[in-house]
Amino acid sequence: MATLVIPYKPQPRQAKYHQAKDVDELLYGGAAGGGKSEATIWDALKYALQYPNSRQVVFRRTFPDLQRSIIMRTLQVYPKELGKYNQSKHEWVFINGSVIELAYWDNDSNYMNYQGAEYDQIRWEELTQFEERWYVYMLSRLRGSKPYPRAVKSTTNPGGRRPLMG
Ligand SMILES: Nc1ncnc2c1ncn2[C@@H]1O[C@H](COP(=O)(O)OP(=O)(O)O)[C@@H](O)[C@H]1O
Ligand SMILES: [Mg+2]
Repeated sequence: MATLVIPYKPQPRQAKYHQAKDVDELLYGGAAGGGKSEATIWDALKYALQYPNSRQVVFRRTFPDLQRSIIMRTLQVYPKELGKYNQSKHEWVFINGSVIELAYWDNDSNYMNYQGAEYDQIRWEELTQFEERWYVYMLSRLRGSKPYPRAVKSTTNPGGRRPLMG
């Protein structure tokens, strides 16, 4: 059987983040360029492969940020043997049925996109850029029928909230 090599060697802080067990909400803080987004995408891939038919979502605050960081990077590094990226739905669908949605949340009207949603893992990238009420709302979407560990895993720069319109 062919062996697929995952091209990622976690640095010590990334390894610590991946090893976190039995957490409901996890926050990975660190300076820009510290490897938080990289850790997020590999953590998501590992979960997707480990738990068949699981569903995850990764949020950035804006579409340009999502495109530049998460979408581009996953297209570069996720092994094409394992899944396909659906450009119109902005989601990765893996051969075991797992899905990783790549999404942005930039205003209050986004609530309605998640009314019937269920996720096994919710990942906020640069958490301080989001409104707390969006985070709290999405806690209610961390649910499902499968016996999988569910968690919210976020990353952030230690700085304050970036001023944004709206
Ligand atoms: N374990 C790693 N191995 C190789 N390159 C890495 C690793 N972690 C991060 N990088 C690279 O370092 C740069 C910064 O990482 P990134 O995840 O974007 O940082 P942050 O999200 O904390 O700002 C990126 O080019 C990323 O691909
Ligand atoms: Mg980042």
